[in-house]
Amino acid sequence: MKSLLLPIVFLFAGQYLAQVSTQVILEVPGYGVLNGTNENSTYTERPFYAFRSVFYAEKPTPLNRFLPPVPKAPYPMDEIQQATNNNAGCPQLGAANEDCLSINIFTPQLPFESDTLLPVMVWIHGGGFSLGHALEYLPNRYMEHDIVLVAIQYRLGPLGFLSFDTDDVPGNAGIFDQIEALRWVNKHIQYFGGDPSQITIAGESAGSASVSLLLLAPQARGLFQRAIGESGSVLAEWALDRDGRGKVASLQIAEMAGCPLEPYQDLLTCVQNIDPLLLDRAYQDYAKTDRLNGGLGFSGSNPIIQVAGAQRIIESDPLELFNSGNFATVPTMFGANKQEGTLVLGVLYNGYLAPNNLTEDEEFLANELVPQLLVALHIDDSTGELAAQLTEKYLGTAVLGNFTSMTPGLTDVRHTMCSVLFLKGPTYETTKVVSQHNPNAFFYSFEYEGRNSLFTYLFAKNPPPIPHGVSHADELIYLFIYPFPSVPPGLNNRETEVSMKMLQVWTNFVIYGNPTPDGVPLLDGIPQFLRYSSAVESYTAIDDVWRSETDYTITYTVTVDELNPPVNKRRASNKQSERSKYVSSSKTNDLAY
Ligand SMILES: *[C@@H]1O[C@H](CO)[C@@H](O)[C@H](O)[C@H]1NC(C)=O
Ligand SMILES: *[C@@H]1O[C@H](CO)[C@@H](O)[C@H](O)[C@H]1NC(C)=O
Ligand SMILES: *[C@@H]1O[C@H](CO)[C@@H](O)[C@H](O)[C@H]1NC(C)=O
Ligand SMILES: *[C@@H]1O[C@H](CO)[C@@H](O)[C@H](O)[C@H]1NC(C)=O
Repeated sequence: MKSLLLPIVFLFAGQYLAQVSTQVILEVPGYGVLNGTNENSTYTERPFYAFRSVFYAEKPTPLNRFLPPVPKAPYPMDEIQQATNNNAGCPQLGAANEDCLSINIFTPQLPFESDTLLPVMVWIHGGGFSLGHALEYLPNRYMEHDIVLVAIQYRLGPLGFLSFDTDDVPGNAGIFDQIEALRWVNKHIQYFGGDPSQITIAGESAGSASVSLLLLAPQARGLFQRAIGESGSVLAEWALDRDGRGKVASLQIAEMAGCPLEPYQDLLTCVQNIDPLLLDRAYQDYAKTDRLNGGLGFSGSNPIIQVAGAQRIIESDPLELFNSGNFATVPTMFGANKQEGTLVLGVLYNGYLAPNNLTEDEEFLANELVPQLLVALHIDDSTGELAAQLTEKYLGTAVLGNFTSMTPGLTDVRHTMCSVLFLKGPTYETTKVVSQHNPNAFFYSFEYEGRNSLFTYLFAKNPPPIPHGVSHADELIYLFIYPFPSVPPGLNNRETEVSMKMLQVWTNFVIYGNPTPDGVPLLDGIPQFLRYSSAVESYTAIDDVWRSETDYTITYTVTVDELNPPVNKRRASNKQSERSKYVSSSKTNDLAY
């Protein structure tokens, strides 16, 4: 059967393609021959080609399980590789196969159809560095536009991020996977109609933290030309295990998986050979216990500042690296969502407050909760002064001790806390520091509340009593196709309009390095995105009506403010003085929360 079809492959321009009903056979010189599919875009049924489960690296072996990946060896060119189905994902709950270092490629045109190569967006999924798959990101909306979309997979959880600070287990394996995927794309994407000199890295949450880390990683320099980061940064406390915490957590996870801690050789042999799901389950148990104790449950499954390994992603503090200008100064577009904090608050409620019977404990809620949040974020507040300031700023109008009444303030405090510490703050901070050396830094605030939210899906079994608002990850609903069971399904007319506008802005950035370049016609209602500078602090708000705004830090108390509208806050003359007050109380950074 294979040999019957092969002549067709070589009939077309010697090189590219044969179409037999819905299949498409593509020869990728130096790599192999792929069998993909023909599909259609969402809005206009524009045809595109899909190649799924294209491997960029070999399956990890015990010896290199925690090391940078081995590039995929080329396939025999007289064989056809099936690229029609999704890979099940890297080992995590529900996926066990380590042969997962693959990408999905979607393109509206192949080289036999046009001489013009299209800009490429390489998508890095989120999921706290421990969950997620390429298959969740359906390309049918992006494929309305002239870009090639590549969704990559990388090792997750302890298999991607275990670190003993030794050369055998140096940490950051999952980030090395991302870089290897980028190398593959640079080498081969031209055969899919993509332009290797116009590559945008893009990601959400842990994917966005990865993007910011790739800006710093010397190994990734030159492999991409622009960067999009949605709701996440390596500057966030949850996205990087500092101060040796990665090693401490990794040893605990190994021990929980049943490995001996000593001698080292036995520990190493054990983690290199153990069933990947056992190791992942040990991480899940570790994370659950950590959350029960008021922690975040991310350690041991996070990037680290490397002190071992022949290759190292970063070797010093990311904020220092950004400040020094030693990073890829490509155009960037970062942004965050209006109520980023509700999802984290939901995790806190279900993982900590509820199981510890604290949801109605007035004494705890009034006096202990905020200090406990600081402990979880590894902030030293021995004097209690910062906790007092946070309580005043975010919970000043709440009935302390009543969780319902405290929810809006906790939502805000959770997503910003301090400029370097959660979702909004660190993402904005990234734009601020990047802009010191890069004139093309853009920032957006996603504020549109549609009918669906990722929050509802994630907490379907056990919904915490928290209004979700515009939750973490909700912008994905409009860019991709909501990959989860959703009620109601699809988008209504208003949501479709938001989706089309966002897709135009995002793909403009991929194509031009600017969301709203001069001379490119825009859909109605898209204002010009102004570049961020420390002088003007411009950003663009995406909502029913899109707005040009300045000073994003004002939105840090948005949930509280909407309940208790402040008087003339935007013109508040005490803004600077209020900010400098918090700056002085920080030991590490400007705490402009
Ligand atoms: C390509 O994949 C399709 C399934 O999508 C299958 O029916 C077909 O036989 C495959 N072609 C080759 C040449 O393997
Ligand atoms: C794509 O659209 C064409 C034309 O409307 C249709 O014939 C074809 O079946 C569609 N393909 C898929 C995979 O939906
Ligand atoms: C919480 O309360 C329930 C029911 O009163 C009790 O069974 C459980 O042990 C309590 N849990 C903790 C951690 O105190
Ligand atoms: C707690 O606060 C909510 C919202 O402000 C209010 O509706 C509720 O009555 C309060 N509960 C108690 C026990 O005071």
